Amino acid sequence: MMLKIPAIFTPDEVRECRAIIDAGSWVDGNETSGHQSRLAKRNEQLAQGSEAAHRAGQMVLAAIGRSPLFVSGALPLKVFPPLFNRYGEGQTFDTHVDNAIRQLRGSDFRIRSDLSCTLFLEEPDAYDGGELVVQDLFGEHRVKLAAGDMVLYPASSLHHVTPVTRGVRTASFFWLQSMVREHGQREQLFRLDGVTQMLSAEKGGSDAAVIELTNLYHNLLRMWADA
Ligand code: NI
Repeated sequence: MMLKIPAIFTPDEVRECRAIIDAGSWVDGNETSGHQSRLAKRNEQLAQGSEAAHRAGQMVLAAIGRSPLFVSGALPLKVFPPLFNRYGEGQTFDTHVDNAIRQLRGSDFRIRSDLSCTLFLEEPDAYDGGELVVQDLFGEHRVKLAAGDMVLYPASSLHHVTPVTRGVRTASFFWLQSMVREHGQREQLFRLDGVTQMLSAEKGGSDAAVIELTNLYHNLLRMWADA
């Protein structure tokens, strides 16, 4: 399941985040690459562990924690500290896989990457190209969202970023380990949560069907989740 979440950042937060990262120090994007993706990647990345990356990363973590849609769709257990990249003219990231296990350099913090997340930090009309293309059994999904919007997709998907031909594409990207490892189970929980919210808005939280659906949700979560 691919999930698009609008307005993770307000326009003010996009500007504040951009001010922090634009003033930071940028290095070759291959700092975080695995062997295969090293061959495919041509972009720049905000220096990992830098003050700018830390401050901007905290902004992203705070914003996703406030988003009910993010929490319901991702059921996050551990989130890797957000990274930031940018693609100038001619830069691209060819088809690659994201590493299954991510270890934070110099620490014992380690996650299994279940979901990949991209938070767009530039308006789509400010650059040409730079689409995120995610492949699954239903075909190719092309994603280029407004600044402040985010997309989540299974980290198991092959994906690439098409070459930027004008302007600069700036984004935050990171991975997370979900409490629910299986994408199919997580998707059913997300749908069940959504329909429960819909019914609750219509009938109120003390409606018998709403209570039963909520019970069902939590019992499935109890069966499938690691916490
Ligand atoms: Ni990737």
